[in-house]
Amino acid sequence: MAAAVRQVLGDSLGYLYPAALRVALRTDIAGHLTDGPKTAAQLAELTGVHAPSLHRILRFLATRGIFREDTVSAFHLTPAAHVLRTDVPYSVRPAALLFTDEMYWQPAGRLEDTVRDGSTAFNDIFGAPLFDYIQGEGEREQLFTDAMDTMSMTEQSGIVSSYDFPETGTVIDLAGGLGGFLRTLLAANPGLRGVLLERESVLRRHKLDDPAIEGRWETAVGDFFQAVPPGADFYVLKRIIHDKSDADSVRILRTVRSAMSEQSRLLIVDVVRPDADISPSATISDVLMLTVFDGRERSEEELEELLSAADLKSLRVIPTPGALSIVEVAAV
Ligand SMILES: C[S@@+](CC[C@H](N)C(=O)[O-])C[C@H]1O[C@@H](n2cnc3c(N)ncnc32)[C@H](O)[C@@H]1O
Repeated sequence: MAAAVRQVLGDSLGYLYPAALRVALRTDIAGHLTDGPKTAAQLAELTGVHAPSLHRILRFLATRGIFREDTVSAFHLTPAAHVLRTDVPYSVRPAALLFTDEMYWQPAGRLEDTVRDGSTAFNDIFGAPLFDYIQGEGEREQLFTDAMDTMSMTEQSGIVSSYDFPETGTVIDLAGGLGGFLRTLLAANPGLRGVLLERESVLRRHKLDDPAIEGRWETAVGDFFQAVPPGADFYVLKRIIHDKSDADSVRILRTVRSAMSEQSRLLIVDVVRPDADISPSATISDVLMLTVFDGRERSEEELEELLSAADLKSLRVIPTPGALSIVEVAAV
C-alpha cells in the first residue's frame, strides 16, 4: 500500500521533472560540464542564474540519473547528461527542448478538455493546428524541425536496411524534414535518385549537400494535401500519418494515390500498434498524438481502413530494429 501511495504521489508531481530538465537545457549545464565537473556556484556564475536554486534543480535531476553530484558538491556528466550536449552524435537536446516547450506542455495542461471533447486543445490555445502555427515562424519551425531531424537520425539506417530497394529508381520523401532519411537511403543505394518534398521554409535549411549522394537528389516545394509529383517508384511518408486525424490522413493518401502508377509503392513508416502488449513508448507517443495533434498510433487494421478509403492496399508490414514499421502500400 505504502509503495502504491508513494508511486501515485510521485507521479502526480512528475511534471517537475521536465520543468527542471528544461532549466538544465536552457542554461546548457551539460555543455558547461564538458571540460570537467563544476559546483552549482561555478555553473551559476557561468550561466547567470541564482546559485542556490540551480543547486536544488541539479540535485533533483541527479536523482533521475541526469548529472551526478560528488562528495565535494561538484556536478558531473552522466550518460543521460552527455546526450543533452549539442556537439555529440545522437544529441537529444533539440527533441528535449521541443518536448518541454510550451507548445507541448500547454495542451498537456488541458488534456482533460481533450478527453471530454475528443480533439486537441492545441488549436484553441495557439489559434491554429501545430503545423500551421509554426509555418514560417523561424524560431518555432526550427525548434520542431531540428527535433525531428535529430530523432530521425537514430532510426534512419535501421529503416533503410529493412527494405529491399531495387538497384535503380526514384524515391520521393514526402515531408521529409531536413532530408536526413533521404540522404541515408540514397547513400546506401547508389543507383537510386531522390526528391525531398517539403515546405519552402524547411527546405531552405536542408542537409542533402553530401558528396556521397551528389547529383542524385533534388528538392521540391510542395503541400501533400494539394499535389505531389507523379510517377515515382517510391513515395515515403515517415512519421506523417500518425499525427493526422483519419480525415486528414485520407486526404494525404488520396493525393499520393493520384500521383502513383500501378508499379509505384508507398512506404508508410510509423508505429504500427499491436493489438496486445503495446510498448510503453508507443503508448506515450499515442497520447502525445492525442494531446498535441489529433493524431493516433494506429493498428494494422486501422491503417488498412484509411488505405482502402484512398483506393490503396497494404502489401505487407515490415518491422525495423526500432519502434517504427514499414507498411508497403500499392494502388488497388
Ligand atoms: C513530424 S515531421 C516528419 C519529418 C520527417 N518525415 C521525419 O520522419 O523526421 C512532419 C513534417 O511535415 C512537414 N509538413 C507539414 N505540413 C505539410 C504539408 N502540408 N505539406 C508538406 N509538408 C508538410 C513539416 O514541415 C515537417 O517537416
